[in-house]
Amino acid sequence: MFPLLSKESNVFIVDDLTKDIEHLIGNFPNGKVFLLSDKESYKHCFSKIEDTAGLSPERTVVIPDGDHNKKLSTIEKVWQMLSNGGADRKSLLITLGGGMPCDLGGFAASTFKRGIQFINIPTTLLAQVDASIGGKTGINFGGLKNEIGVFNQATAVLIDTTFLETLDQPNIISGFAEMIKHAFIFSAERWEQLKVFDIANPNLDELKDLVADSIRIKDHFVQNDPLENHIRKALNFGHTFGHAFESMAMYEDRAILHGYAVAFGMICELYLSHIRLGFPMPKVMEIAEYLEAIYGHFEFGKDKFEELYKLMTHDKKNEANKINFTLLEGIGKIQINCQATKEEVFDALYFYNNFK
Ligand code: GLY
Repeated sequence: MFPLLSKESNVFIVDDLTKDIEHLIGNFPNGKVFLLSDKESYKHCFSKIEDTAGLSPERTVVIPDGDHNKKLSTIEKVWQMLSNGGADRKSLLITLGGGMPCDLGGFAASTFKRGIQFINIPTTLLAQVDASIGGKTGINFGGLKNEIGVFNQATAVLIDTTFLETLDQPNIISGFAEMIKHAFIFSAERWEQLKVFDIANPNLDELKDLVADSIRIKDHFVQNDPLENHIRKALNFGHTFGHAFESMAMYEDRAILHGYAVAFGMICELYLSHIRLGFPMPKVMEIAEYLEAIYGHFEFGKDKFEELYKLMTHDKKNEANKINFTLLEGIGKIQINCQATKEEVFDALYFYNNFK
C-alpha cells in the first residue's frame, strides 16, 4: 500500500487489499470493526476481502442497492447494526461499494455516537475518482439528492483498481463522466489526453493510470478548500443541471446513473458557459457530440423545463435564493459563483433538447 498523493494523504493505492485492511484495522486495537456494503457490491466484491482478520458476519450489514435507497430508513438499519453490535467511539466502519454505500456509510459513521471513524473501499469507477474522496457524506431527502449530510474525511480511502474488472460498461461510463469533468476544470492538456481514450472498449491498465491522475485532480481542489467555500465549487461543474435531471429521472421511475446525469448536465452548463462567459461555441458543439456519442440523450419535453428549473432552485449550492453555477470561460478556466436568468436556463435546456 502506498499513499497516492502525499505523505499526509489518506488515499492509498493498494497492492494486497486484505493485508492492507488488516494493517489499518491494527490501528483500532480497542474497537470493533464493522462492515457496510450494498447487495450488488457484496455479491461481486466481498469475496476479495472475506478472509480479512477482524471482520465478522455479526458486524456486517448489507443494505439494498441503488441511489433510491440512499435514504433515512436505510441509514437506520446501519445505526441499528452498530448499536446491536456494541459499537463505541473507538469502533471503525468500513464501507465497501460504490458511491451510495460510501456516502451513506460515511454519514452513518459521522453521526453514530457523534462520530466514529470510517474507511472507504470504493469498488466502482465513480466512487474511486469522486464519491469516496473528499469527505462528502449524506443521503437523499424529500426527492432531493444529498440533501442531508456532513463533511467528514474518511480515515483512509483504499483504491484497488482490480475492482474495475467487476464493472459493467454503464458503470464504467458513469464514472468516466466525473473524469471528463476533472479534465474540463483542470486543463486543456488533460482533456486532450482523456478524449482519445477509447471508453467504448476500455483498456483497464491504461484506465488505472488515468484514475490515479483523476484522483490527484480532485484532491487538488479538495485540499485547497475542504468545506467548499470557494475553489472546490469547481467540482460542481455539470452538477446543477445534472442533479435536476437525476432527481426528475428518479421520481419518474426511470432512474439514471449519476455520471450520465452529470454528462447531460455538462452539455447544458457548457452552453450556459457560452452565453455567460463566451466559451467558444464550436468547442461546445464538439464536446456535446462527444458526450452524446457516449451517453446518449436524456428525453424530456418542453413541458418539463419549469419543473427542472424548480429542482435547480432547491440545489444546496445556491446562495441568496440564486441558482449558483460553476461555469467555464475555456477548458481549465473556471468561474465559480455564476448566476443565470431563468430565461438563460431555459435556453440551455432548449439547446440540449435540440442539438441531437
Ligand atoms: N463531488 C464533488 C465534490 O466532492 O466536491
